[in-house]
Amino acid sequence: MQDRLKELEGEAISKVESASSLKELNEVRVSFLGKKGPITEVLKGMGKLSAEERPKMGALANEVRDVISMRIESKQQELEEAAVNEKLASETIDITLPGRPVRTGSHHPLTKIVEELEDLFIGMGYTVAEGPEVEKDYYNFEALNLPKGHPARDMQDSFYITEEFLLRTHTSPVQARTMEKNNGQGPVKIICPGKVYRRDNDDATHSHQFMQIEGLVVDENIRMSDLKGTLEVFAKKMFGDDREIRLRPSFFPFTEPSVEMDISCKICGGAGCSVCKKTGWIEILGAGMVHPNVLEMAGYDSKKYTGFAFGMGAERIAMLKYGIDDIRHFYTDDIRFLTQFSVPEE
Ligand code: PHE
Repeated sequence: MQDRLKELEGEAISKVESASSLKELNEVRVSFLGKKGPITEVLKGMGKLSAEERPKMGALANEVRDVISMRIESKQQELEEAAVNEKLASETIDITLPGRPVRTGSHHPLTKIVEELEDLFIGMGYTVAEGPEVEKDYYNFEALNLPKGHPARDMQDSFYITEEFLLRTHTSPVQARTMEKNNGQGPVKIICPGKVYRRDNDDATHSHQFMQIEGLVVDENIRMSDLKGTLEVFAKKMFGDDREIRLRPSFFPFTEPSVEMDISCKICGGAGCSVCKKTGWIEILGAGMVHPNVLEMAGYDSKKYTGFAFGMGAERIAMLKYGIDDIRHFYTDDIRFLTQFSVPEE
C-alpha cells in the first residue's frame, strides 16, 4: 500500500508538471484528489491492515495528498502568471503609431479681418463699441442729420420692421448712441464693428447683409489731417507699406466735408488693370468730419468739439486683402472656402 501511494504521488507530480493549461491542471486535481480518485481507492483497503499500521498509512496518505495539492497550487500560480503575461503581450498598445489627426475649425475670414482691425485701432487708443442690429429710425437716420423724408435716405434701402424700428443700414448709429451717452462731454475714440442690412439684390459684389467697421474720434481740435493720418496708417498696416492713399470729395449727410478713400492698386501698382478698372485706384471707405448738426444733436458743443468718422465694409477689405472675387462666399459656408483661412499648424 505504501508503495502504491508513493507511486501515485510520482504519477500525480509528473502529470501536474506536464499540465499546460489551468483546465488540464484542474483535471489532474479532480482525478487524483477527488472522492473517486485512486488515493481514496487505496485507502479503502485500510481495513485489511493491522491497528498499528492503519494510522501510519493514514498519515502517509495525507502527506501524499498535501504534496500533490502543494504541487498543484504552485503549478496553478505558474500557469496564471503565464496567462497574464501572454495577455499583456497580446494587448500591448503601440504608442509609436502616429495618431489620427483631429479636424480643427478655422476662424471665418470676416472674423479675422475684424479682429485684425480691432487690434490695429486698439493699438492707437480706440475702444470697441457695439450697438443693436434692430435700430431705431432715430439713431440710424435722424440723429445722423437724415430727417424723415430726406432724399439721401434712398442711398441706403432699408428693411423696416415698424415705422420706428428697422434693421440698421450702417454702423453709424453707434456713433450717435455713444456721443449721446457721454452727455456732450469729453473725448470719444471708438471703433464699432457689426452686421448691417440693406435691401439689395445679392450678386458678386452686393449682399443684403454685410459687415461694417465704423470709427469715430471726437475731441477738441480734431482736424481733417488727423483723419488722413489715421487712414494712412490703417491702409499701410492692412495692405502693405507700399500702398498710397488718396481722398476724393464725396457726400454723406452726417459728415462735412465728406470724402471717399482709395488705395493704390496692388495688382498693377497704379498703372491701371481690370481689378482697378484701369484707374490705378481702388475705393475702400467713406469718411469725413462729423457734421456739426450730428454733434449738436448728441449734445456736443460743435464750437468746442470737432471729430472725424469713417466707415468701411469688412467684406470689401477681406476681398481685397485675400483676393476673393465673390461676396457670397462669406455667407454660403462652403467648407472648402473657409478652411483656406485655418491657422497653420505649428
Ligand atoms: N455709414 C456710411 C455708409 O454706410 C459710411 C460712413 C461712415 C461714411 C462714417 C462717413 C463716415 O455708407
